[in-house]
Amino acid sequence: MVEDIIFVGKLIHTPSLGTLEIEDATVGVHQSKIVFLAKSVTDETIRLAKSHHLLKNARVQILKPLQFFFPGFIDTHIHAPQYPNAGFGIDVPLLKWLEKYTFPLESSFRNLDKALEVYYRVITRTLAYGTTFASYFSSLHAPASALLAELCFLLGQRAYIGKCNMDTLSPPHYCEKSPESSIEATNVLVSFMSKLDPERKMVSPIVTPRFAPSCTKDLLQACGNFAAAHDLPIQTHISENRGEIALVRDLFPDRKSYTDVYDHYRLLTPKTVLAHGVYLEDEEIETILNRQSGISHCPTSNAVIASGMANVRRLLDAGVKVSLGTDVSGGYTPNMLIAIRQAALTSRSLASVLKDTRIILDLSELLYLATQGGAEVLGRGAEVGSFEEGKNWDALVIDVSPQSNSPVDVYEHDSWEHILSKWIFNGDDRNIAQVWVNGKLIAGTDCKVEDMSPI
Ligand code: GUN
Ligand code: FE
Repeated sequence: MVEDIIFVGKLIHTPSLGTLEIEDATVGVHQSKIVFLAKSVTDETIRLAKSHHLLKNARVQILKPLQFFFPGFIDTHIHAPQYPNAGFGIDVPLLKWLEKYTFPLESSFRNLDKALEVYYRVITRTLAYGTTFASYFSSLHAPASALLAELCFLLGQRAYIGKCNMDTLSPPHYCEKSPESSIEATNVLVSFMSKLDPERKMVSPIVTPRFAPSCTKDLLQACGNFAAAHDLPIQTHISENRGEIALVRDLFPDRKSYTDVYDHYRLLTPKTVLAHGVYLEDEEIETILNRQSGISHCPTSNAVIASGMANVRRLLDAGVKVSLGTDVSGGYTPNMLIAIRQAALTSRSLASVLKDTRIILDLSELLYLATQGGAEVLGRGAEVGSFEEGKNWDALVIDVSPQSNSPVDVYEHDSWEHILSKWIFNGDDRNIAQVWVNGKLIAGTDCKVEDMSPI
């Protein structure tokens, strides 16, 4: 049973695109959910919270000056087994990069000792960086994927876990033998996770056809059917790199576009996460909008493997849901602050190249992509992503005071907007004092994650 708490202090969030709220707040959390929220701090709001029938036994946590609450980051695209490669391997384009660096590493996850070591590190590192909810690709192995799910559950990170489905155009030692065996292995993971978290509240399986080139038509079909039958979300890659798009055109000559391949096999649903989407045509964007699928913008990875620059404004203008992903290890770090910075700079570079300043994403839009936007894309917009009565308490306590010993230098004349921006552009994990997921304090500099040993 989690403790009931009344949180008091500055609260910053982006409940909708373009809306940045910075307010003093009194927030009552009962059994992981926000049951009371007053957007001010007075003796009266604290008295009201304490007299709330669900908060009778609540303790009160009051933030210090230069601390604030912020929603936990939501990373909608990250490859857990690629973490050991984060920070190197930027010499080749996507398809060569998969062959040279990625498949050899991922294939080693048949070894569960390796999986335990790497997955423990990924989860604790992302938590320390403030990621409270991640949508993970694992390798193609069901046992290691089950281990990742169990570790997320035990360490308290909200997560989608997808075992890669891939039965073609991959090295023989890292390729599934048939669509049937791929789905069978997916079913093993889903059964395991149904026992671990039957309501899929903290951890949920996600059907993960790696990308069109690594799936036969029969496997794409089977993945679409499997997701529909089990009411599961779906994640994959789309339109990331020119060479990849040409390959898809060759492999699927009957389909109008990359998007049409996925649409044909019923893989575009309101709970589908499409990573990258750098080169989507207008018609593809319209199909994605009509299916209510979402995009995971991965600007760090797009820059590192020189894939291109996605025009997020174009997607948002069309009404498509957009979120942010680190895409480790295409992306060199699982730190969402860096993904936010890269999204900011990419939008500015693109604005300059295309001579259109409207393309620039402002701070509130960037923060939305990293929080509520992610929740929407993962189909959990009513549960997490911002602070509202009825939502789960997935929150960070950000500390920009000198005591945080961080590179964020605040001056007396700085407004809260300036402080927020300084944190985003200069901050690091030292600023993340507490990480709360589902009402539980699980990481942060106030909570020694280093002391937690692998199970
Ligand atoms: N496309 C297919 N697999 C991958 C992957 O692991 N990373 C990236 N960035 N793109 C992919
Ligand atoms: Fe990826």
